[in-house]
Amino acid sequence: MSRFAIEPHPSPVSASERAGLLESPAFGTVFSDHMARIDWRAEGVGWHDHRLVPYGPLELMPATSVLHYAQEIFEGLKAYRWPDGSIRTFRPTANAERFGLSARRLALPELPVEDFLDSLSALVEMDQGWVPTGVGTSLYLRPFMFASESFIGVRAAHEVSYLVIASPVGAYFKGGVAPVSIWVDQRHHRAGPGGTGSAKCGGNYAGSLVSQELAYAHGCEQVLFLDALTSSNLEELGGMNVVVVMADGSVVTPPTSGTILEGVTRSSLLQLIRDRDLEVDERPVELAELLAGIKSGQVAEVFACGTAAVVTPVGWLAGEDFEVAVGDSQPGALTMSLYEELTGIQYGLREDKHGWTHRLV
Ligand code: COI
Repeated sequence: MSRFAIEPHPSPVSASERAGLLESPAFGTVFSDHMARIDWRAEGVGWHDHRLVPYGPLELMPATSVLHYAQEIFEGLKAYRWPDGSIRTFRPTANAERFGLSARRLALPELPVEDFLDSLSALVEMDQGWVPTGVGTSLYLRPFMFASESFIGVRAAHEVSYLVIASPVGAYFKGGVAPVSIWVDQRHHRAGPGGTGSAKCGGNYAGSLVSQELAYAHGCEQVLFLDALTSSNLEELGGMNVVVVMADGSVVTPPTSGTILEGVTRSSLLQLIRDRDLEVDERPVELAELLAGIKSGQVAEVFACGTAAVVTPVGWLAGEDFEVAVGDSQPGALTMSLYEELTGIQYGLREDKHGWTHRLV
């Protein structure tokens, strides 16, 4: 029995309008009828008022703390419609645990894992008609927590809200699973040692936007950051981890040692690669080494990975003084077979050997 009280939407989107919206949803533009919400208050009250309410505007005072100091964290997961009619998500406990890690780093209260999981089930059960059926489509779930207290002194908020919204999505990039071009930002950094790099907080993304704009200005689709200490090692993209496939089939990727987000898709793919008896080396990867490897042919493929973009081949890399194509700029064989394997598991088309999928409805 769900602990979420339900306030149904008074005028939900009609089934026929919804069918149109679900046909080819552009990423993050359309939202389902409801959202889950739980509020938190300090002074011994804790988490209270678990509920599903109509998706709609939030009423916030102009002094609401998050608007000033960005005390906010979020997660990203997807709900997939399976051939047996059930709706599943992927490794939600990993997201719940990372949400806890982010909360601790941002001095926000920790949401119990059970509340996180229940909020997903309650919302997806209520809005199950919003889970699209097309190949590569899903219902993207966005849990987030923010300082909702109206107070502009600088301290951790005493009032916090947790919400989950849901958005039917297709491919993250307009071109679908096609090679993307990457701008390597050699001027700005995303995170430094001891900072918030491994937390999934809005501030990290805010700081990345000027670099993303630079990427667009140089005709690239995504930005790649280098480490703040030496400006020489790869870190991560604006919203994805990066993985390099060598010509001998081994794989190298930067270690998540505090400045890089511990991607759930990243760790799942590394496991699937190890399952194939291929070597995975989590170690610093120098930009110079990557460029030399691409030139010499030692580097065969580069891909980006994340919940939203799944597995995305990288076709080109450019920076202030270089521009290279990765291989023949076509999607690499390992990249695409990992995409097939991971999405096969997520959509219930392949055996889930690791017990990663989780039934919501
Ligand atoms: C995700 O992959 O789910 C992300 O959170 C990346 C981005 C859409 C912010």
